[in-house]
Amino acid sequence: MVRSESGVPLKAVYDAAELAGFDPDTALGEPGTFPFTRGVYPSMYTGRPWTMRQYAGFGTAKESNARYHELVANGTGGLSVAFDLPTQMGYDSDEAIARGEVGKVGVAIDSLDDMRVLFDGLPLGEISTSMTINAPAATLLLLYQLVGEDQGIPGSKLTGTIQNDVLKEYIARGTYIYPPKASLRLISDIFAYCQREIPRWNTISISGYHMAEAGATPAQEIAFTLANAKEYVRAAIAAGLDVDVFAPRLSFFFVARTTLLEEIAKFRAARRIWAHIMRDEFGAKNPKSQMLRFHTQTAGVQLTAQQPEVNLVRVAIQGLAAVLGGTQSLHTNSFDEAIALPTEKAARLALRTQQVIAYETDVTKIIDPFAGSYAIETMTDELEAAALGLIQAVEDRGGAVAAIEQGFQKNEIEASAYRVAQEIDDKTRTVVGVNKYLVADEEPYEPLRVDPQIEADQRERLAVLRRERDNAAVTRALDELRTTADGTGNVLPPMREALKLRATGGEVAHALRDVWGTYQPQDRF
Ligand code: 3HC
Repeated sequence: MVRSESGVPLKAVYDAAELAGFDPDTALGEPGTFPFTRGVYPSMYTGRPWTMRQYAGFGTAKESNARYHELVANGTGGLSVAFDLPTQMGYDSDEAIARGEVGKVGVAIDSLDDMRVLFDGLPLGEISTSMTINAPAATLLLLYQLVGEDQGIPGSKLTGTIQNDVLKEYIARGTYIYPPKASLRLISDIFAYCQREIPRWNTISISGYHMAEAGATPAQEIAFTLANAKEYVRAAIAAGLDVDVFAPRLSFFFVARTTLLEEIAKFRAARRIWAHIMRDEFGAKNPKSQMLRFHTQTAGVQLTAQQPEVNLVRVAIQGLAAVLGGTQSLHTNSFDEAIALPTEKAARLALRTQQVIAYETDVTKIIDPFAGSYAIETMTDELEAAALGLIQAVEDRGGAVAAIEQGFQKNEIEASAYRVAQEIDDKTRTVVGVNKYLVADEEPYEPLRVDPQIEADQRERLAVLRRERDNAAVTRALDELRTTADGTGNVLPPMREALKLRATGGEVAHALRDVWGTYQPQDRF
């Protein structure tokens, strides 16, 4: 039996009989109308191509700033900041726990000074910036707003996204800090703050990507992502927010695998499920509340270190899957990313891949071209059914947070990852260059190396900052933050005052750790 990645049987031939009860009006709607199966905008890419948004950042703010200028010069449409692990985990570069990680998997940002260097010469009123930051998302958002003010740009003109999706960090990847209850409170505070101060900001990027990279099937990816999304919506409504005010600024983030047909069906099914959840379960009336707008990154886990150039082919197919699936924003991986941080040439080739899809093919001229396809409509229906079953399984366990604490999503994903690993080992799943079509004694690929001097430079910058700032004022501001966190007020205004006085990201995160504690995963699963 041939099965899809989601375990659904695949047929060699699909025909009209599969779509006997299919009603295009209810199943599809028009592009830009409920249930948005065909895409979130009426004109989709015929009106505006997706945003070419390459995830980038490494070393110090100065080095990353140079890469951003290169990407803008090469035609990228939006920025996407990769932060190093200390920044993502709420630690400063000069803390012992940060040793060896400063500037390694992303850029080191400790303070307002670093953020000013990161965006130097980049017009924040004209570009949208995504920041892949979760537990400390409020800190980086506020630093971005403060840099915008330096440039004379009011919050109302800033556009971009913070990932801010801590629930998936408990399930996969692990860059969480606080326990779930405190995390949901902080995320709702961000929603409320942005409504007032930065209304065009996408306040969260609810992500399936990392769960997919951990092994989730397409059905698990969309199901666990949408179940997390329901938990955020419930928390925001419980915090007194109006669903039709905050929901239009929710966004999503998925992977694009090489299995192109199933991926197209996956994106179409996800839009339809979300539209019904928001209208029928949460009573959202604003069409923008019902639209699942998403970013896609091609599957990092499908890149091979062997014959790395072959990854150029994989990424082109994966990028095409995302476009045919109607993505709003796309990152195409560099072919050398399975080995190390991308070289400048590899990063440029990744962007050129999107530009060939956008400007040399005809896939931007026709909206949702697979609509009505016997195979794709059947696969969309089947993926929708599988995902709805998994969403129900999460809800039956008390919702995403309760299911996480029971280890449900993690166990399901690990079982899928194990099955794929076995298939690669027993060669029932072909990975070109890895278990078939190998090349003996390949010449080694020379990756980009991160300069070890970065850590010392960053520590020196912090020492100067701590000497120069008004430490008494910083201490008072951090105490005010603790007091607010211990109460029910919105923590972002006092956090902003502390950051403006050049409190560091680590100091802000520690102040909240003092009040909220930190998440200790139960090891009973
Ligand atoms: N017709 C009419 N209007 C259109 C249109 C069309 N065809 N196409 C676009 N537009 C409008 C939109 O309405 C929008 O206007 P608005 O801001 O006033 O609403 C504007 O043009 C921009 O369009 P989008 O919002 O669709 O595109 P963006 O690129 O600005 O936003 C997003 C896309 C998905 C909503 C947003 O959340 C985003 O950019 N997300 C990116 C997330 C990201 O990059 N994440 C990286 C994570 S890396 C990671 O975690 C992996 C690592 O760990 C390995």
